[in-house]
Amino acid sequence: METKFKPHLSVVFLGHVDSGKSTTAGHFLKKCGLVDKKLFEKMCQEAKNLGKQSFKYAYVFDRLKSERERGLTQDCKSLNFETENKNFTLVDAPGHKKYMKNMITALSQVDAVIMVVDATVGTFEKGFKKQGKIRELAIIASAYGAKQMIVLVNKMDVSSVDYSQARYNRIKDKMNPFLRRLGYHSGAFQFIPISAWLGQNLMELDTQSMGWYTGPTLYQALERLQEPKRATDQPFRLAVRDVYNVYGVGIVVRGVVASGTLSEGNQMVLSPTGGIFQARSILCHGKRIKEAQCGQFASVNLKYLSSRYIKRGMVLGHITNDPPCIVLDFTARIYVVNHPTQIRPGYEPVIDCHTSHITCKIDRFLQKINKNGRLLEKSPTSLRTGDHAIVHMIPLQPFCVEPYHKIPTLGRIIIRDMSIIVGIGSIQSTNKSKIPITKLKKK
Ligand code: GTP
Ligand code: MG
Repeated sequence: METKFKPHLSVVFLGHVDSGKSTTAGHFLKKCGLVDKKLFEKMCQEAKNLGKQSFKYAYVFDRLKSERERGLTQDCKSLNFETENKNFTLVDAPGHKKYMKNMITALSQVDAVIMVVDATVGTFEKGFKKQGKIRELAIIASAYGAKQMIVLVNKMDVSSVDYSQARYNRIKDKMNPFLRRLGYHSGAFQFIPISAWLGQNLMELDTQSMGWYTGPTLYQALERLQEPKRATDQPFRLAVRDVYNVYGVGIVVRGVVASGTLSEGNQMVLSPTGGIFQARSILCHGKRIKEAQCGQFASVNLKYLSSRYIKRGMVLGHITNDPPCIVLDFTARIYVVNHPTQIRPGYEPVIDCHTSHITCKIDRFLQKINKNGRLLEKSPTSLRTGDHAIVHMIPLQPFCVEPYHKIPTLGRIIIRDMSIIVGIGSIQSTNKSKIPITKLKKK
């Protein structure tokens, strides 16, 4: 029997620390029947032993010992599930600013965002104030091209909220204009009041405590998401997110296919190291597939490599069809979101692009422009918060990126100084070197 083709979407849970991302993700998958009963009982027992009962659903995603002990997500994890018409990869991201790099990695590979906000009186207000976490995350999400958003107004059960429709409306009314200003049109975001802890409005509508809410549920909202346009006509690229050394199988890399397709047996090259190998087998949603398409979250078993030579942030491409190369310098259009003083040429922030985080020097400001791209000033000497500009950058470490108009997921950037997001932008053009396509030498 032929299996029905379903579009594949990757969705990330974003939000303030402790807003309930992992609890929502875990409880939702449990309700979908995807969490083994015995395993869940074991998690509940572990949570009880650690005095963290309230984190039992979060343990579905929080699997590291330190995450479970602290009740804090540290790295991104993903699990697959499918609805009648779509396949999904759900990614749980950390909220703590210490793990911002991992959150950005998670965000770099997704098509839509589930923003979890804590409705508790005082907590939402703190996150939504100027330079608060909710605003910052929404800005990052829009910069990374997540054009669709589901906003979950969580913790409706806490006493300060008490399932109040007025409270839900107030949060919605505050976020609505802000999201529109970021470029989300009215059909691109949906609000849902939930209690992740009690599982309300996740799979089925809660008619008792929130009888005033008529839908959709989280499940229905996911079904409504549209598959974005994919870079299918571009050469194959996959930015490595995870690397595993599986006993008896060998090296497996995971990530979203950013462009093109990958078939079993294909010869590939890894940038920036230049290592060559073959795709021995490809898995997607736990099933072996002959070909991974653009947008799919794939696990690829590699032949000829050892895990020492491959890590998060590297990029895979076909060896013959326009292989990925190191970028010597590039120009980008940027928007300065937040800088306490002014940026001057020579500034060396971290540039986050796909799963990579590389220090770059902004050596020249080419133009200051307005929001619509009209020239305001040639070669400005400084940039301040709120400015748009075209700048020239030089990576200080090997970096593999692509122009945004060719492969969007490899061309969006975030400019970061420690844990502060200074700016966002997109790569306009690149000056590439030819990487040596030779077998790796052992270091
Ligand atoms: P980080 O990953 O560390 O950023 O946190 P998180 O957003 O994943 O939050 P997590 O799911 O770990 O939940 C944090 C705390 O909030 C836990 O104690 C949860 O039980 C609690 N919590 C989550 N959702 C709800 C809810 O709907 N109602 C109530 N009362 N508590 C909730
Ligand atoms: Mg978490």
